[in-house]
Amino acid sequence: MTLDVMKYAINRITNTAPELGQPKKEEELRELVGETITAKGIGGEKAFHLFRDVLVKATVPIDHPRHLAFVPASPTRAAIMFDLVTSASSIHGAYWMEGAGGIFCENEAMKWLVSLTGLPEGAFGVFTSGGTAANLSAMVTAREYWRRNPDNLNKKALVITSEGAHSSIKAMAKVIDADVLLVATEDLMTAKDLQDKIDQLDVHQRKRLFAVVATGGTTNAGIIDELDGIANVCEQENLWFHVDAAYGGGALAADSVRHLFNGIEKADSITIDPHKWLFSPYDCGAILYKNPELAKAAHSQEGSYLEIFKDEGAKGFNPSDYQIQLTRRIRGLPLWFSLAMHGTDRYKWAVEMGIKLAILAGELIEDREQLELVREPSLSCVLFRRKGWSPDDYKNWTYKNHRDGFALVTPTKWIVNDKAETVARFCFINPDTTIEDIVAILATMED
Ligand SMILES: Cc1ncc(COP(=O)(O)O)c(C=O)c1O
Repeated sequence: MTLDVMKYAINRITNTAPELGQPKKEEELRELVGETITAKGIGGEKAFHLFRDVLVKATVPIDHPRHLAFVPASPTRAAIMFDLVTSASSIHGAYWMEGAGGIFCENEAMKWLVSLTGLPEGAFGVFTSGGTAANLSAMVTAREYWRRNPDNLNKKALVITSEGAHSSIKAMAKVIDADVLLVATEDLMTAKDLQDKIDQLDVHQRKRLFAVVATGGTTNAGIIDELDGIANVCEQENLWFHVDAAYGGGALAADSVRHLFNGIEKADSITIDPHKWLFSPYDCGAILYKNPELAKAAHSQEGSYLEIFKDEGAKGFNPSDYQIQLTRRIRGLPLWFSLAMHGTDRYKWAVEMGIKLAILAGELIEDREQLELVREPSLSCVLFRRKGWSPDDYKNWTYKNHRDGFALVTPTKWIVNDKAETVARFCFINPDTTIEDIVAILATMED
């Protein structure tokens, strides 16, 4: 059984072009596998074979080189292997007392992330389950800090972000019961946009405003807000400045685009997802704070059963103090191992590849008569149109390529002349995607 599982894992890790599976209806899957949870158990061999031969085929391998939809992923083999080691080692990642060696590794990887941002001395962070949890952890920290002022204790908090911000910002604002005001642009939010929005607030709203969320690489189009100017506005207006770089954060490692992030070093908190553009397996997000003590004040849990963890004898860095989760996987460990094995230059190279692929795709699109760019590629995102296509044409094209097991590329919408137009979108992460892959996908759009 163990050998079967290890063989499967090794085969899957070495397979750089896994079959592009697709979903089946739940009834179909049930028909194929029957009842799997029974009083006596169906046996490991049978359960494993059902997974290997049926169920995994109803999933999309996110690392397929022609999976260019949403934000794909491309975990390194080293990181995946170490994900297995992370599970096998059964380490509790909440407190130094139990997880010291693992947390040490996570912290080494975190130091590199912090160095990419240019945050000042003292800044640090922790790994989370993803960008949503990281954004929530930051918003709770910011809101609690704001509520240190007794005048704010009974006020409903208000946050400003832009229409380009990820859906998780609005969703997490709901969790903390804050209102959200949107700067009306999906393109880059400028300092002036932000200042205008603040100037339009009435007196009560202004008192409720506690934070601004800028995006370092929008999910839809890879756009980076005007971080430096926004940082200055936040400083003048005494507002918490959070940068959501869940997707784009990996590009901090890329010299070719690093200047676009100038100003990120002034942020109070930054979200970066290693499971997006830093080649970690799911799930691995990260939240970085300029002043981690503020996060600790907001998140540290108390209980008689926890007191020993904070005792002098057990002292060390406790990741649970800085984000919303108590018991946690040492989910930064795969990133640490892969970084240690390959070195940071290899990461720079792999991220630059995503950017190069986007530029190249842009050129290939411009060369084709029936295709055109909707906007210049940004980071690793490319928005383009097939002239004459309706929204249904894009949808059918997506389904056909997926059904054929060839590619998964999905449409999105972009505002053109004040109207939302359905367009095609590439997002490159996997450095193994080739020019031939892009050419072949574009050919499926041509007559
Ligand atoms: C900019 C941005 N923020 C946050 C998220 C949410 O991250 P997660 O899905 O890891 O929770 C995403 C996901 O695509 C994103 O692109």
